[in-house]
Amino acid sequence: MNIEIYENKLTVNSYIEIKESVCKINNSKLQIAKSLKNDLYDVVVIDGNKLVGMGRIVGDGAIYWYLQDVAVIPEYQGKGVGRIIVKKLMDYIYSSSLSDTKTTIGLMAAKGKEEFYKKFGFIERPNDDQGPGMIQIISK
Ligand SMILES: CC(C)(COP(=O)(O)OP(=O)(O)OC[C@H]1O[C@@H](n2cnc3c(N)ncnc32)[C@H](O)[C@@H]1OP(=O)(O)O)[C@@H](O)C(=O)NCCC(=O)NCCS
Repeated sequence: MNIEIYENKLTVNSYIEIKESVCKINNSKLQIAKSLKNDLYDVVVIDGNKLVGMGRIVGDGAIYWYLQDVAVIPEYQGKGVGRIIVKKLMDYIYSSSLSDTKTTIGLMAAKGKEEFYKKFGFIERPNDDQGPGMIQIISK
């Protein structure tokens, strides 16, 4: 592998290609373009000419940060690419956070990927002290 990581270079087409390799997409190109424009940070991982993975951060850049769209194409999974992506995202958050503050990093793990994220210090909810994460999907 000759892995290269590009920061803030994720395009709509690259996003679609990588994401479709791991799940079905329900978003329009327009919506994806707006989403990418509004993220705080993203990385795309390339091996030679091949797109192999991506990861993004959305949030307010101060108190709340969310890892989104961390994905590695199936034939590259289990080779350490996901670790590189999450490390890069975590480094960005750490370096962008204000000194002498606490800041919260959240994510929604894909089913069965919880252990992957635990390796980076994430904990599952609900637990003894905290309720579950909750979501709602709306249509317009
Ligand atoms: C989850 C994902 C990002 C992990 O990336 P990856 O490149 O396969 O993971 P890595 O090879 O970097 O693994 C890093 C570590 O996590 C572990 N790990 C990875 N996936 C794991 C899993 N599902 N369960 C337990 N451990 C896991 C690895 O064994 C490795 O451990 P080690 O460092 O102690 O050896 C990737 O598998 C992926 O994109 N999967 C599809 C996600 C998906 O379906 N998303 C749905 C979107 S709708």
